[in-house]
Amino acid sequence: MEVIRDPQQMQKRAMGWRRQGVVVGLVPTMGFLHDGHLSLVRIAKAKSDVVVLSLFVNPTQFGPNEDLDRYPSNIQRDLELCEQEGVSVVFMPDADAVYAADASVFVQEEQLSQGLCGLSRPIHFRGVLTVVAKLFNLVLPDLSVFGEKDAQQIRLIRRMVRDLNFPIKIISGPIVREADGVAMSSRNSNLDAASREQAVVLRKSLLDIQQAVSSGECSVAALRKRADGHLADTPLGALDYLEFVDNETLESVAEIGERAVLLAMAVQFPGARLIDNIVLERGAQAALQAK
Ligand code: PAJ
Repeated sequence: MEVIRDPQQMQKRAMGWRRQGVVVGLVPTMGFLHDGHLSLVRIAKAKSDVVVLSLFVNPTQFGPNEDLDRYPSNIQRDLELCEQEGVSVVFMPDADAVYAADASVFVQEEQLSQGLCGLSRPIHFRGVLTVVAKLFNLVLPDLSVFGEKDAQQIRLIRRMVRDLNFPIKIISGPIVREADGVAMSSRNSNLDAASREQAVVLRKSLLDIQQAVSSGECSVAALRKRADGHLADTPLGALDYLEFVDNETLESVAEIGERAVLLAMAVQFPGARLIDNIVLERGAQAALQAK
């Protein structure tokens, strides 16, 4: 396994691969790797000749009062895990090598980024899309793998690839969870024990709502109330949002109908803001039952 820090060297290597017809898979991460990240590496590995994992805590996607300076890191351990998983190259640039001091071009999406996490993190997706576009240009991958854990993020990346014509296949990986159902996240390590225990509030609320949908409840107003009891049981978590949106357009819906609905939730704990989601597919279930 090779560690490349210099963006130019990364791009040169990538151009060599392209000339040789090597299929390149990219897994972008901010490090402090867990099984969620590694599941994406395995997906990439099954579909490519070489896997590049980028490890870069991207400053432009953090707002001024967010946790950039507290973002967890253990590079030694990350490199060992990458080695074990058969990653070919870890691309680990410094921030000042990635962004020119007077950088003035950014990627801004104007629809899907408006709601959900975009509301409480207004500059977040501009930073994400900009760095992912830069990684695509530096690593020149044939495919890139992202997790459904960050549902809005992967939908935005697909939109960017479509609208800016990146010749890259975007593949999604399912959410990997801890034993108690909490979605794995590097940020979980910033929770104290009491908050970590209460972090189950997201999964519990989502499953409860999904259950009610399978029992025939379609009204979003009624479904929303299902989370109230769970939130009352977990006073360390302050609800940021619980939203029912069309799974493709990310527009709010008032009813669960034929089209798939993304149910997404964000809860702020003292040490970290956590997100989780589930796709509600009453239409698909009804179609199955009718068969
Ligand atoms: P990071 O939070 O490190 O996540 C890197 C990738 O791992 C993302 O595609 C994310 O969706 C996926 N992931 C995280 N937790 C997961 C889980 N429990 N199950 C499955 N996949 C999971 O997302 C980012 O970094 C950054 O925004 C990035 C795309 C790297 C741009 O800076």
